[in-house]
Amino acid sequence: MVAPRRVAVVTGGGDCPGLNAVIRALVRVLVARSGIEVVGIARAFHGLLEDDWAVSGTRPLTLDHIDELLVRGGTVLGTSNRGNPLAYVSRHEPHAPPRDLSPLLLERVRALGIEGVVSIGGDGSMAIAAELSARGLPLIGVPKSIDNDLGATDQTFGFDTALHVITDALDRLRDTAASHQRVMVLEVMGRNAGWLALHGGIAGGADVILLPEIPYSTDAVVDAILKVQSAHRRHALVVVGEGATELGRGARFIDQLAGGMPRLGGAAVALEAQLKARLDQEVRVTVLGHVQRGGAPSPYDRVLATRYGRAAAELAEVGDWGRMVSLRNNSIVSVPFREVPRTPRLVDPLGDLVTMARAVGIRFGDAPIEPENPGV
Ligand code: F6P
Repeated sequence: MVAPRRVAVVTGGGDCPGLNAVIRALVRVLVARSGIEVVGIARAFHGLLEDDWAVSGTRPLTLDHIDELLVRGGTVLGTSNRGNPLAYVSRHEPHAPPRDLSPLLLERVRALGIEGVVSIGGDGSMAIAAELSARGLPLIGVPKSIDNDLGATDQTFGFDTALHVITDALDRLRDTAASHQRVMVLEVMGRNAGWLALHGGIAGGADVILLPEIPYSTDAVVDAILKVQSAHRRHALVVVGEGATELGRGARFIDQLAGGMPRLGGAAVALEAQLKARLDQEVRVTVLGHVQRGGAPSPYDRVLATRYGRAAAELAEVGDWGRMVSLRNNSIVSVPFREVPRTPRLVDPLGDLVTMARAVGIRFGDAPIEPENPGV
């Protein structure tokens, strides 16, 4: 393994609190400690695949540039969820068929004297990193995502910050719910994984949590709301993961991106219509959307992002490529890309957290296997 002289960093997929904190840690270790030059690639891999790549595709990252990055949300490098070099869709021709531009990418990386790349991204970016690594690009992965759905790590950074936003939203919605005796429905992100809905719902005191992993029936949701009400109050809080599905039907989408993932949406609005028809009560919906992705990272995410950044820098320092840094039992380790699952890590419907939530009276809308908890 040979130490590199110049390393690039790239952010791919959706933005997420803590991306800049990883960049800061990388620069602090590589530049300040080892004298290795660091450059940032602009807008995921678009920076190196567009015509102006030699002029504006990369920019140097020095100690002068990173002072405020610890607390800044988003990514100073820009990002994209259409920047896959293996199935490339140009920003300028969004409807053209995807092309494999990986040979061009490798050529340009070499031309710029880049000897290794740190790719910070979610499951899509890690799958791309694994493939580019197999094709000869020296790469290290850093796992990010508010969805927390990446395998081979116990937690991605960004998740904790998004949870704070969801919990705060539920605390606020509770005031209106109680004052007006309403049912408040909150739709949260997470794609096909229910981690945000589950943790957010528990932390925010939801009465009902609907997860993509546990298909619901409207009857069971209505029943759960009526049970809460007959016990001691009229209002209720319902959290709906954007990928939640009603028994017998698929997830709801709001549009199909060219070369990208379909966009989920509409789960809470659909539920609202069903509840309104069945409950003698006002129902209101809030779709939290991208508010969950922005803002300064939480203290936990700043620490986790810094731990990941330092670990990635230390792999790069010794030229140990082809790995993703990972959190395991609260220690930072790294795993070869081939051990990073290509499918999202989902909530186990029979796991500890769901079982605990049921025990304290939270309903998941799957009446047949709900245990009774008449005290709540
Ligand atoms: O993966 C992060 C995420 O925020 C998902 O929770 C959500 O479904 C998706 O990205 C939204 O993507 P976009 O920013 O393209 O609308």
